[in-house]
Amino acid sequence: MNDLQGRRIVLGVSGGIAAYKACELARLMGKAGALVDVVMTEGATRFVAPLTFQALTGRPVHVSLWQDGGDNGMAHIDLTRGADAVLIAPATADFLARLAQGRADDLLTALCLARDCPLLVAPAMNRQMWANPATQRNVAQLRSDGVVMLGPASGEQACGETGEGRMLEAVELCDALIAFFQPKRLSGRRVLLTAGPTCEPLDPVRVLTNLSSGKMGYALARACAEAGANVTLVSGPVCLPTPADVRRIDVRSALEMRDAVIAALPADIFIAVAAVADYRPAAPAAHKIKKGAATLTLELTANPDILAEVAARPDAPFCVGFAAESENLAAYAESKRRAKRLPLVVGNLVQDGLGGDANLITLFDATGAHPLPPGDKLTLARAIVRHLAELYHAHD
Ligand code: C5P
Repeated sequence: MNDLQGRRIVLGVSGGIAAYKACELARLMGKAGALVDVVMTEGATRFVAPLTFQALTGRPVHVSLWQDGGDNGMAHIDLTRGADAVLIAPATADFLARLAQGRADDLLTALCLARDCPLLVAPAMNRQMWANPATQRNVAQLRSDGVVMLGPASGEQACGETGEGRMLEAVELCDALIAFFQPKRLSGRRVLLTAGPTCEPLDPVRVLTNLSSGKMGYALARACAEAGANVTLVSGPVCLPTPADVRRIDVRSALEMRDAVIAALPADIFIAVAAVADYRPAAPAAHKIKKGAATLTLELTANPDILAEVAARPDAPFCVGFAAESENLAAYAESKRRAKRLPLVVGNLVQDGLGGDANLITLFDATGAHPLPPGDKLTLARAIVRHLAELYHAHD
């Protein structure tokens, strides 16, 4: 994916052991299409050689305020002109302190001071250094100066201790940077989503379920969070990581999903992506059903339609439904939209079964059908968010 295509990023690396993760970060940003200029502090070069970054980015690496003059001797100014962002990863406690003070005693601090683009920092340090009031004071100062803090995370540290202060992983930082550049179309809105399958118990060890992977719902949750929304994701059982900045509530059955959705209201927007089982076993057996008889008849009872129930409430959010169909997509999706009185239905033509990474999607709203260009699920999710945000703001 070319999520950073055309972006120019200055990657600042200060002197901490997490500098080794910045190598992977430089590679990931380059792979996402960014032009990456690496600037290191002297301390950082003790951990990773500049040559490593030069090989990964294909560009010269800058270290010294005195030797890196470029044509006019103004590397500290030239490097950020035309840059879309400066990202410092790792940012040590000392680097944060110097940044908070507005010092300019090496190339990296000087260019941070001279920049005219956003600054994002990924702190990385021992948990005690992070918790120290001096560091927290510096972080608060930087936040109020408009610096974006990415992390830190909690976990095992290089020193052997465990706690808050670990740098986010390279892939998380790259995703955070991509998210940073997404337009904030849903800023401050409360978005509630359902995703994944539901599992309907037959007995203590068996369930009725379907083949939903949850990928589309998770991609949409991520796209909504990237667009600045406060996102709650009610999820059936899936094997997917929770997207950054998303509150996730795990459920198993349709009844649990319904209760979790109602408890999570009110919301501004509700997006029902889950493949909810239409029926559940009427009376799940208390003990494992034993084999024996040649046939076994299950009695099923209808599950509540969560989307229809939410859409019919007096305080109904802006509701979006999904229609996964293997044929007659337009007819089925449009009739679903009308029946449930939804402003938007996302129609998904299921050709090769569920669970893939790409989708063929058409949006159905009051003005008609809008096919989206084929793409991976995250690209499609962002396009759906763009369309739904326009409808939502028009309706709001
Ligand atoms: O009517 P149908 O089940 O095909 O509609 C699909 C849409 O309704 C999806 O958005 C799905 O998440 C939602 N749905 C629901 N609760 C159900 C069944 C479907 O929220 N019990």
